Amino acid sequence: MRRKMAAGNWKMNGTGDTLAELTTLANDHAQAGCDVLICPPATLISRAAERVGHTTIAIGGQDCHAAEKGAHTGDISAAMLRDAGASHVILGHSERRENHGESSEMVRAKARAAWDAGLTAVICLGESLAEREAANTLDIIGGQLAGSIPDAATAENLIVAYEPIWAIGTGRVPTLDQIGEVHDFIRARLERRFGAGVGKTTRILYGGSVKPDNARDIFSVANVDGALVGGASLKAADFGAIIAALSA
Ligand code: PGA
Repeated sequence: MRRKMAAGNWKMNGTGDTLAELTTLANDHAQAGCDVLICPPATLISRAAERVGHTTIAIGGQDCHAAEKGAHTGDISAAMLRDAGASHVILGHSERRENHGESSEMVRAKARAAWDAGLTAVICLGESLAEREAANTLDIIGGQLAGSIPDAATAENLIVAYEPIWAIGTGRVPTLDQIGEVHDFIRARLERRFGAGVGKTTRILYGGSVKPDNARDIFSVANVDGALVGGASLKAADFGAIIAALSA
């Protein structure tokens, strides 16, 4: 009932040459058994969208501004992402929360802007290592979920990504039990807040050092509906192996 999703976050990586990876991916996984989303840097969105236009691969942004337009030098609105060919946008990634001081309130405002522009928001939640070690993980995730997701969530406009900060780019992955505990918790909170219909059908992705060799195990965990992948999404071969693990 929840179609799996493999989402790639290229972060600040990639120039025109990198689009060849996208072509390989599109050729090799034309019939992927899961949804495939690639979020390249903003400079590549329109070219990426043109490349995959005839395929089922979706293109997303990595952030947007909360305002519709205006005097915000260097920022990009949700409508601009949409106009460039994006259907999704990642919001509240821990790198944005940490490096740009984004609060859950700001993420929530951005999600509203994304929805107004017709984009699906991939909203990221995640605890730091200190928070996990202090046994505060579920409090942190619960607070971020309550604060970052607007009330008008549906299973179509929202995807949640659980990304423990200490697992991002580190090669350090939580145990399957730790992943399962947080995903079950997010599912329960979504059901409580939005009702069983939305709560049971909204996808919850896991992110943080997902690689071809651990993907299958992670995807076996209940309530893991796919992955948000950083490093391993940059090479078509690696990301393709993750797509294959999800499609199995
Ligand atoms: P990683 O990044 O796969 O390189 O750990 C995940 C993410 O930040 O989305």
